[in-house]
Amino acid sequence: MKLPPLVIGDLKADIPIVQGGMGVGISRSKLAGAVAKCGAVGVISSVQIGFDEPDFETNTLEANARALRKHIRRAKEISPKGIIAINHMVAVNNYDVLAKVAVEEGIDLIISGAGIPMSLPAVVEGSNTKIAPIVSSAKAAKVICKMWDKKHDRIPDLVVVEGPNAGGHLGFSIEQLTGENNIDLGEIVQSVIEAVKPFEDKYKRKIPVICAGGIYTGEDIAKYIKLGAAGVQIATRFIATEECDAHIKYKQAFIDCKKEDIEIVVSPVGMPGRAIRNPFIEKIKKEKEPITKCYNCLKPCNPKNTPYCISNALINAVEGDIDNGLLFTGSNAYKIDKIVTVKELLDELVSECEAHLE
Ligand SMILES: Cc1cc2nc3c(=O)[nH]c(=O)nc-3n(C[C@H](O)[C@H](O)[C@H](O)COP(=O)(O)O)c2cc1C
Repeated sequence: MKLPPLVIGDLKADIPIVQGGMGVGISRSKLAGAVAKCGAVGVISSVQIGFDEPDFETNTLEANARALRKHIRRAKEISPKGIIAINHMVAVNNYDVLAKVAVEEGIDLIISGAGIPMSLPAVVEGSNTKIAPIVSSAKAAKVICKMWDKKHDRIPDLVVVEGPNAGGHLGFSIEQLTGENNIDLGEIVQSVIEAVKPFEDKYKRKIPVICAGGIYTGEDIAKYIKLGAAGVQIATRFIATEECDAHIKYKQAFIDCKKEDIEIVVSPVGMPGRAIRNPFIEKIKKEKEPITKCYNCLKPCNPKNTPYCISNALINAVEGDIDNGLLFTGSNAYKIDKIVTVKELLDELVSECEAHLE
């Protein structure tokens, strides 16, 4: 059976796969543009996107705003007809300022997690930009729909459900992630689909629900589509692509990593994250890293007591200093064994998925 497209309001992605946003700098214009060009949804990560601008150290906000504009334009040049989104974390300082820059650049969609994106409907008001919260429970989906409905007469255009096997920051406790208590992504997706139904009925339009976290094969995608998901979000697999914006040493670390190298770490955001074990992780377990400069990047981070500077750690990683960087990953990175093109990856996922939808 042919894969159904992902319809987000008046946007249509022929391939119902959203490439997960990956910060810092892992998914910028090259990756997002290539994904969109193939018919899936390409996502630029906004967090500290200006890390390689000449004035990043002294003029961080402006450097980030300029780089965000540049990468949205470049991605659209690569794929003029494709769907380009940004992943914009609620936990970042200057959330509204940077979201407005993306709206001015005509971004198609803003996907927002790591908190509840309360101000997002107001930021996009009057534009054609679609908005999608990332949630890890039906309760969070309901709270967001209720608040957006009450305060802004608006509902999400898409909901992303992130499960416990995702990369980056995770919306679960360390106990939930490391204990026996197996959390099932399929069950969460189905409960989110139920939770948004009253809002679909009220607004007489569909809220597509997609899911993310540990999705690796086309068979995995077919499983969630059969459970009612409108598509999936996949991040880790896109790291081992030619077009991924990270340094080659970063990509190689994913090819080299083994199952036992993947662990749960604590991030200065106050949320757990999943990463590849390396000398950096071993070091921060033993001692705090002194903060020499604070970029004021994340609202929940206090430079006085943070175990390390997450901006520094993620910038080191994307630039290829992988022993001194933080390598966020989904749970399935150890299965990656080679670098392919985005088109090869998507072709493989689509044909496997279609075979399993028969
Ligand atoms: C290296 C890396 C960086 C990430 N950065 C972000 C981010 O900045 N914001 C965010 O909302 N999610 C982030 N994520 C989560 C992904 O967007 C995605 O939802 C998740 O990793 C999906 O699971 P998968 O990697 O197993 O496919 C990141 C994931 C990875 C692997």
